[in-house]
Amino acid sequence: MSEKKYLRITERMALRAVGTTYPNPPVGAVIVKNDEILSRGWTQRKGVPHAEIHAINQIKNKRDIEGAHLYCTLEPCSHEGKTPACVNKIIDLKFSKVIISQVDKNPLVNSNSVKKLRSAGIKVVIKNFGAQTRNLNNVFFKSLNNNKPFITLKIASTADGKIATNLHESKWITNSVSRMMGHKLRSLNECMIVGTGTIRKDNPVLDCRLDGLDDRSPDLFILDRRLILKRDLKIFGNKNRKIYVLYSDKIKKKTPKLKNIKYIKIKEVKYMLDIETIIKKISNLGYMRVLVEGGAKLSASLLNKNQIDKITWFRASKIMGNSGINAISDLNIVKINHLKKFKLINTKTIDNDQLSIYRKK
Ligand SMILES: NC(=O)c1ccc[n+]([C@@H]2O[C@H](COP(=O)([O-])OP(=O)(O)OC[C@H]3O[C@@H](n4cnc5c(N)ncnc54)[C@H](OP(=O)(O)O)[C@@H]3O)[C@@H](O)[C@H]2O)c1
Repeated sequence: MSEKKYLRITERMALRAVGTTYPNPPVGAVIVKNDEILSRGWTQRKGVPHAEIHAINQIKNKRDIEGAHLYCTLEPCSHEGKTPACVNKIIDLKFSKVIISQVDKNPLVNSNSVKKLRSAGIKVVIKNFGAQTRNLNNVFFKSLNNNKPFITLKIASTADGKIATNLHESKWITNSVSRMMGHKLRSLNECMIVGTGTIRKDNPVLDCRLDGLDDRSPDLFILDRRLILKRDLKIFGNKNRKIYVLYSDKIKKKTPKLKNIKYIKIKEVKYMLDIETIIKKISNLGYMRVLVEGGAKLSASLLNKNQIDKITWFRASKIMGNSGINAISDLNIVKINHLKKFKLINTKTIDNDQLSIYRKK
């Protein structure tokens, strides 16, 4: 098999880990000897072990590794974190060649491992391989170097862009397959932000309810500026996820100390929690992938500050008319050249619904 074919396999391994590895990037690795795959690895839950170590751990007799080739979507780490540096293990086990898709732009690594491997006599090839690999790595680089997570806005609306009736009925506008895809999207993100309006009106759970992925519900950031949400709401029911309740720095109330719910004060600006402070906070906690499922005001706040990187918009072939709630509330746009611009990157017909995927321009 060619190097590219093995790198394609590492890409598939990395994709398995998306949404589960924060604060580490999802990485894939394959160990090959005499053109035979000895093992495959991917970054494990919460980022440890790293993909290379996961692959190495699956080989019983470590002596078999001598002379093998290691393929990775990202340069192995050269620094000690929760685990020792992977590069030392690669040298100790006497791999003869390391083929990577991209060098790690993390300032703590930044080609250090490439140099260290080469000076230990191990051949290193850098391929800049694969659009999906580059996308995965870029999310990590951006979160690290720009303090900005990748934010996806998911909307489920009528064809005329309404997300609920005026009586706040929203179940169900789109079909069951679209809704399953929505659950999959949750499993691919590490956390979600949700507005108080949606919680008060819908009392949602916002978990991942797909068989086999039901332990992959993202952590939650709830915007409860005035600390008015009652703890018997369904959203607080799942004890297996972290929940952050964000509230205004103007509130003097004492907040309880709980195991899975953390209260964080956020600067209030014009009766809203400051959205840029929230995003920085989320990034500082190590989250790289954030999903937003509305409501209308939260979506508008994020769009206003140009924080949305991708929109996944499911539209049912149904019309609600003027009396429904718009997917996005006021953006105060009066000039055409102030429109928020996106690039349509994919469309799909899902039975009688239409899915459009947009990326920030
Ligand atoms: N079909 C769908 O995909 C979908 C998805 C989600 C929601 N919905 C529908 O959307 C409706 C709720 O939307 P909504 O616009 O009323 O509520 P929302 O966007 O969920 O929440 C907005 C509220 O969050 C608080 N908030 C604090 N800081 C904020 C900030 N920086 N930006 C935005 N909000 C902030 C404010 O309440 P305080 O004044 O209390 O601070 C604000 O009124 C419901 O009817 C729900 O069914 C539909």
